[in-house]
Amino acid sequence: MKFSIDTIRARRSVRTYDGEPLSKEEREALLASFAETLPTPFGTKPRFALVGADPDGRPLRMGTYGLISGAGAYVVGAASLRDGGMEDFGYAMEGIVLRATELGLGSCWLGGIFDRGRSARVLGLGEGEVVAAALSLGRPAAKPSLQERLVYGASGARGRKPHAELFFAATKDGARALTPWSAIPADSPWLARPRAELLEAIRIGPSASNKQPWRLLLEDARGSSGPALHLYLHEDRAYNNALGDVKIQRMDMGIAMRHAEVAAAALGLPGAWTRLDPPPFEAPAPRSYVASFLA
Ligand SMILES: Cc1cc2nc3c(=O)[nH]c(=O)nc-3n(C[C@H](O)[C@H](O)[C@H](O)COP(=O)(O)O)c2cc1C
Repeated sequence: MKFSIDTIRARRSVRTYDGEPLSKEEREALLASFAETLPTPFGTKPRFALVGADPDGRPLRMGTYGLISGAGAYVVGAASLRDGGMEDFGYAMEGIVLRATELGLGSCWLGGIFDRGRSARVLGLGEGEVVAAALSLGRPAAKPSLQERLVYGASGARGRKPHAELFFAATKDGARALTPWSAIPADSPWLARPRAELLEAIRIGPSASNKQPWRLLLEDARGSSGPALHLYLHEDRAYNNALGDVKIQRMDMGIAMRHAEVAAAALGLPGAWTRLDPPPFEAPAPRSYVASFLA
């Protein structure tokens, strides 16, 4: 899927909508985007369904804690329980988020409380699948609800960790061991355009409870090939395992993978995601290797 970096920049979570259903054109564009989310980095096939207004025309209430109001539609999605299924789901769903943004629609990832039973029925959930997350969609209301402002307005829900807490230089100490995760040297190509813009596209991405669990190890050159980016999950164990099979922070990894890929394409940088085996660098818990973006 191709998007401009401006689409990544324009996206933000919208929880208060104007209550209007989506237009036929918007629904069709979203439905078309479901197929475009494939293929995924790890080869699983997330599935999606668009849930429109209630039969009596009222906007649906699938959302969490009453925080979502007036949504015109929801996307609900199923992820594979196979290895990589949660990352693939995050990657695919974020493609739909960016398409919605491009269409001028507001959206909000819903990974916590939503109607999972109803979603399972709509999706016709199969063996080896789980209802992973939902997305509320609609036109942003002129003003966010008081509740949204109270919960998300002043709570730093939109802030992001500084560059230095997310991005590190991959310095080798011995064959594969890594000690420590060090600051990126000032002359690294990762600190200059266009690579710095790719990192920024990852940094500003959405994550569950805005925990930003992605950590990236950067290499100026990997062997004879170009710069390499290695993605690690900095896991909040209790949080990531609170929903059983649904690993919410693994979806965050997939979101970072989508943003990196979209930004690289927009910036004319070559690269694709692969999982290196063995991992390129060891990482102490709670960090674990996810995948590498290699030119
Ligand atoms: C996997 C995932 C699950 C999320 N679940 C919820 C949710 O259940 N309810 C909610 O209001 N926001 C949810 N969010 C939205 C985040 O809170 C939001 O992305 C983050 O605070 C950053 O703000 P921004 O999206 O406006 O940049 C979720 C985001 C992600 C990526």
